[in-house]
Amino acid sequence: MPLLQLEGVSKKFGQVVVAEEITFQLDQGAAVGIVGPNGAGKTSLFGMISGDIRQDSGRILFEDQSVGSMTAAVRCRMGMGRTYQVPHPFERMTVFENALLAAQQGAQAHGQKSYDLAFAALERTGLAELANRPAGSLGLLHRKRLEMARALATGPKLLLLDEIAGGLTDPEVNELIVIIRGLRDDGIAVLWIEHVVRALLSTVDRLLCLASGRLVADGPPSEVLASEEVRKVYLGGKIINEAAI
Ligand SMILES: Nc1ncnc2c1ncn2[C@@H]1O[C@H](COP(=O)(O)OP(=O)(O)O)[C@@H](O)[C@H]1O
Ligand SMILES: [Mg+2]
Repeated sequence: MPLLQLEGVSKKFGQVVVAEEITFQLDQGAAVGIVGPNGAGKTSLFGMISGDIRQDSGRILFEDQSVGSMTAAVRCRMGMGRTYQVPHPFERMTVFENALLAAQQGAQAHGQKSYDLAFAALERTGLAELANRPAGSLGLLHRKRLEMARALATGPKLLLLDEIAGGLTDPEVNELIVIIRGLRDDGIAVLWIEHVVRALLSTVDRLLCLASGRLVADGPPSEVLASEEVRKVYLGGKIINEAAI
């Protein structure tokens, strides 16, 4: 049984097509990257998978259950964790409280179990030492990590990462890669939208490319990056050059 299945998922915002008949599936524990130019519909796709926005048509199945009309909170409890491109922690709460809330709401854990889940998520993401800091005082790197910690504290089977490496320095990206590979190795399925192709290539074994709401490529990363269709959508081949580094 695949973990996640999308069947003919379509969505328009007014005249803008953000998804056009998108069909793919993800196995348990798979690590898959998503690339595509700005405005391609990548974040909207995550919104439809996680339940933040509703598709116009098509089906979304998680562990064989149709989830397309369920709320984001229900999907989270079923095992979907996601991070946001622009981190929005509860600024006045501490780092630990942010993770604790995720454990309580997302994993429906209580008492000691919720503390353990929250702390494990902070340790996993290298935030344990900052546990008592207000989340609002964190810089970008730690905000990105807190996004991951909050998603992890919900006990996900599927982790949706939206440009988690964007804006970080090379060494910071390297640290992030180690964390994400660890999660993948523990059997958490990862679906990762990222412009930092180097980071993707070190972690995923399959790549999807979206352009104008269409899935234009799906396959092994080297084949996808070399495909004519993908080169066309990245006018000038920036992505290809990056991949060669
Ligand atoms: N809530 C919304 N209302 C109207 N248009 C939106 C909304 N969200 C995204 N869009 C538009 O949909 C397109 C795809 O956006 P997005 O999914 O964020 O792309 P990506 O993440 O690939 O950059 C863009 O043209 C964007 O302006
Ligand atoms: Mg986006």
